[in-house]
Amino acid sequence: MKILVTGGTGYIGSHTVLSLQEAAHEVVVIDNLVNSSEESMRRVAELSGTAPEFHNVDLVNEAAVERVFAAAGVDAVIHFAGLKAVGESVREPLSYYYNNLVGTLNLVRAMERHDVRSIVFSSSATVYGEHNAVPYVEKMEIGANNPYGRTKEQIEDILSDIGTADDRWNIALLRYFNPVGTHPSGRIGEDPQGIPNNLVPFIAQVAVGRREKLMVLGGDYDTPDGTCLRDYIHVVDLAEGHVAALNHVADHAGVFRWNLGSGKGSSVLEVLRSFEKAVGRPIPHEITARRAGDLPAFWADATSALADLGWSTTKTVDQMCEDHWRWQENNPNGYAG
Ligand code: WQD
Repeated sequence: MKILVTGGTGYIGSHTVLSLQEAAHEVVVIDNLVNSSEESMRRVAELSGTAPEFHNVDLVNEAAVERVFAAAGVDAVIHFAGLKAVGESVREPLSYYYNNLVGTLNLVRAMERHDVRSIVFSSSATVYGEHNAVPYVEKMEIGANNPYGRTKEQIEDILSDIGTADDRWNIALLRYFNPVGTHPSGRIGEDPQGIPNNLVPFIAQVAVGRREKLMVLGGDYDTPDGTCLRDYIHVVDLAEGHVAALNHVADHAGVFRWNLGSGKGSSVLEVLRSFEKAVGRPIPHEITARRAGDLPAFWADATSALADLGWSTTKTVDQMCEDHWRWQENNPNGYAG
């Protein structure tokens, strides 16, 4: 099929573009490059042998989105594009609501106009909020506790309402947990602009000498080693999960929700130790105060993705750290070289 991937130059997007090409799909990418680099497309082309068609387009520009749909003739959409930093969303909620919601509405309206009604949406485990018991299950009542998470929740509701009103729509809502790692080639990876919010890219930048030390944000949680537990999954496993979801919605009308996670939690210190094993030396770190809003522990119940899609994670935290380090060591400044 010919697949439009919004946000396809980003970390998860670029890995998914590669997985789609490896599954013999033709790919068209829309991205405004606000938090990514077009270099990722050249690297993907190097790995797959085929350059994805790329349009430097912002989804909030409705006319530009229409021009891509009018010319491309796509069969389905995977929608990653959106602002995604929790802390930033608390400081700049209007920017998050405008970019994430208006961008999605422009995309879905263009799909409707062009009779494209299969979509895989990149949602987040953050929609489960603070009130749900662990492990998270798809049928639970969601309720995010930050503007970023609320945009994901509202987009889920928009797509779910569209699918309920019109049974020609095939919709997959994928709730990610904590994607880490990179393609084993070390040629595509995670390249956050500015100071990384997330744990593993920060550790990687300390290991390569760009940051002085890792601050372990809280060591007094009620967990085995006092640090938070999260469900880390390899980004290549995550990309394969998107291909599996796309194949499912290609011939199943309706609205589907799947957690993409490993089903187990790893602590901050366990991940740090694993990264030190990959690097072969200790990584400077200090246990400091908790970060506001962090939950002590959560992970996925991933049984429905296995049952419905035949998908489950395959890679270990050690493999995630080995791959992430290979990327960072070979690309100390990310795509900037
Ligand atoms: C993981 C653990 C931190 C940085 C976020 C979003 C979520 C999703 C994934 C988009 C926590 C600790 C972190 C650091 C640390 N993003 N940490 N030092 O918060 O689980 O999830 O990213 O969909 O929506 O909420 O991931 O990597 O930020 O933190 O100790 O420098 O690492 O306290 O316990 P998180 P994270």
